Amino acid sequence: MDSLLIYGAYGYTGELIAREAVDRGHEPILAGRDATSVHQLGAELDLRSRSFDLSDQDTIREYLDGVDTILNCAGPFEETADPLIEAAIETQTHYLDITGEIPVFERAARQHEAAETAGVTIMPGVGFDVVPTDCLSAHLHDRLPSATHLSLAISATGGISPGTTKTALRGLGDGGAIREDGQLRAVPGGDRTRTVDFGWGSQTVTAFPWGDISTAYHTTKIPNIHVYMALPKPARLAMRAGNTLGPLLSAGPVQSLLEAVVDRTVSGPTAEERAAAAVTIWGEAWSEETNETAHSLLSTPDPYDVTVAAALAIAARTVAGEAPTGYQTPAGAFGADFVLEIDGVSRRDL
Ligand SMILES: NC(=O)c1ccc[n+]([C@@H]2O[C@H](COP(=O)([O-])OP(=O)(O)OC[C@H]3O[C@@H](n4cnc5c(N)ncnc54)[C@H](OP(=O)(O)O)[C@@H]3O)[C@@H](O)[C@H]2O)c1
Repeated sequence: MDSLLIYGAYGYTGELIAREAVDRGHEPILAGRDATSVHQLGAELDLRSRSFDLSDQDTIREYLDGVDTILNCAGPFEETADPLIEAAIETQTHYLDITGEIPVFERAARQHEAAETAGVTIMPGVGFDVVPTDCLSAHLHDRLPSATHLSLAISATGGISPGTTKTALRGLGDGGAIREDGQLRAVPGGDRTRTVDFGWGSQTVTAFPWGDISTAYHTTKIPNIHVYMALPKPARLAMRAGNTLGPLLSAGPVQSLLEAVVDRTVSGPTAEERAAAAVTIWGEAWSEETNETAHSLLSTPDPYDVTVAAALAIAARTVAGEAPTGYQTPAGAFGADFVLEIDGVSRRDL
């Protein structure tokens, strides 16, 4: 894989991806805003490294010059995706990231024509969020092309990294989101629950603003989409609290305080914890016109391991020129079965 640049390479997930890339015999360029961290990792892995922050477009363009594909692992992506996408289009560099943030997907989608004109691919969401769910959505749509409603539910065990925690905290004050009649609609956080049979048992799941509220619509054009998560009670209560405390939680000083606490108290899951983790994703497509329903289940390994495998597989295809240009979703570009190429992933139709 020639000329892949990994931005945010010394973060928890970026480093996992960089190390796995080396294990697979690739030589990505490592990048990030902290010179010491990025050059140290580059020296350890014997890779080229570049240090730049995202405050100046000229600088970003200069560092992307000659790069085929950038894989952005620096989140929250609300802060990093826009400047990198803008520079990627200008320098004719393909752009991938591992976001799950709905506004980031929506803004990236608005760059479709500019990306097509430049001949580049813009594909956010090449990690656990949203590769498995996007592929499951496409599969359900293939099974029931007249579907008007799509519901997805995720049940996962395993740990969570500092960056994921910070990104989730940023979203707490934003409430929930659903797709209704083709439109994104804000709803109170944590307000809807339902019971889902994951094959090994039933769980109560809570509506959650997962990236598919944006991406599954681009992939399938199914106009009504809900995503649910099996959440521990404190997380459900925190989502509900976000409805009333939203402005307070979103305030800069409060976010800084919460992020400092995360830095002190949260570390990403260990390799052993990841090896023990498992995820089940349930999906349901329903056609209002014919009253037909289709259900499928997808089982995956730990979300971070899926993120590493999916991001590297998509980066390899993109560098090889196999990704369509313009704004793309993973299943839109590579089909519903792409996720089955990842070790440990299996699918079952009910
Ligand atoms: N799609 C998925 O399924 C999936 C999977 C894993 C992670 N993620 C997301 O990926 C992001 C990173 O997660 P992580 O676990 O790797 O977090 P992490 O360990 O906290 O690493 C975050 C990285 O991003 C960099 N960064 C943050 N803000 C930046 C900015 N404004 N400009 C430049 N660099 C910036 C950090 O650099 P500094 O240390 O210098 O701040 C660090 O290198 C999170 O948003 C997380 O939610 C998504």
